[in-house]
Amino acid sequence: MSTTADELREAVRRRYAEAAVAVGEGSASCGCGSGACCGEEAADAASFGEALYAAEQRGALPEAAVLASLGCGNPTAVADLSEGEVVLDLGSGGGIDVILSAKRVGPSGTAYGLDMTDEMLALARRNARDANVTNVHFLKGVIEEIPLPAGSIDVVISNCVINLSTDKAAVLTEIARVLKPGGRLGVSDIVTEDSLTAEERAERGSYVGCIAGALSRGEYIAGLEAAGFENVSVAFTHEVADGMHGAIVKARKTQSPEAKGLPVVQPAATAGCC
Ligand SMILES: C[S@@+](CC[C@H](N)C(=O)[O-])C[C@H]1O[C@@H](n2cnc3c(N)ncnc32)[C@H](O)[C@@H]1O
Repeated sequence: MSTTADELREAVRRRYAEAAVAVGEGSASCGCGSGACCGEEAADAASFGEALYAAEQRGALPEAAVLASLGCGNPTAVADLSEGEVVLDLGSGGGIDVILSAKRVGPSGTAYGLDMTDEMLALARRNARDANVTNVHFLKGVIEEIPLPAGSIDVVISNCVINLSTDKAAVLTEIARVLKPGGRLGVSDIVTEDSLTAEERAERGSYVGCIAGALSRGEYIAGLEAAGFENVSVAFTHEVADGMHGAIVKARKTQSPEAKGLPVVQPAATAGCC
């Protein structure tokens, strides 16, 4: 019997809820339960999580935020954030990239984190309080239907989450909707070489472990261009499995999607805030 999209999403939610509870109890985030978290199946554990942040960045964060880091890159290092900007982190987990972004945009800016897992949201809110950052908002919702208005965000970041989505086209369309014209995308994700089939991706690791659901470089570029982005780049940074890489994905929303004949996406319903 094949797994439906809803079952896959529920498996992801359950796995990351367990990870958040484990951090709250002071254990390593993915040491319990069945099934791997993002990075547990990688040949080199240093390819994921806290090792990808500079010691200086880790030192300025609560221990639980560092422990809960389950990403495959450091999007705050690739997205040029300026004072006063509004940043959105998709799949914000324990909040590490939201807290770092909040510090970068300063009190006149805002950092939003969006996550579907209650236990992660609770952990992230605790971490933000412990880090004494107040210009943050953690929203409950799915990245396929972002609960924010159109044209409200300067920069979208995300760390090892888009591969977990069961509807990546919807995610890319939603990112384009919430960004202001000319807004930027700076994402860390697992990306495969173009030659790998879906079966070969699944042979290398599980879906909840951030491997089986990864897009190829060509799929990422085509998806972003179709959603209304330009200056798209996908740069491999470190190999995590044969033919699969941690990657930095960057793009800019076109100034005027209408001018390029691209569909104008209607805002999705807002729901589930805070
Ligand atoms: C691999 S963890 C990464 C967390 C965080 N970005 C980090 O770097 O530590 C994936 C996170 O994305 C969330 N997530 C996965 N799929 C999601 C979806 N479709 N919508 C919203 N959140 C999602 C999970 O709840 C989990 O907190």
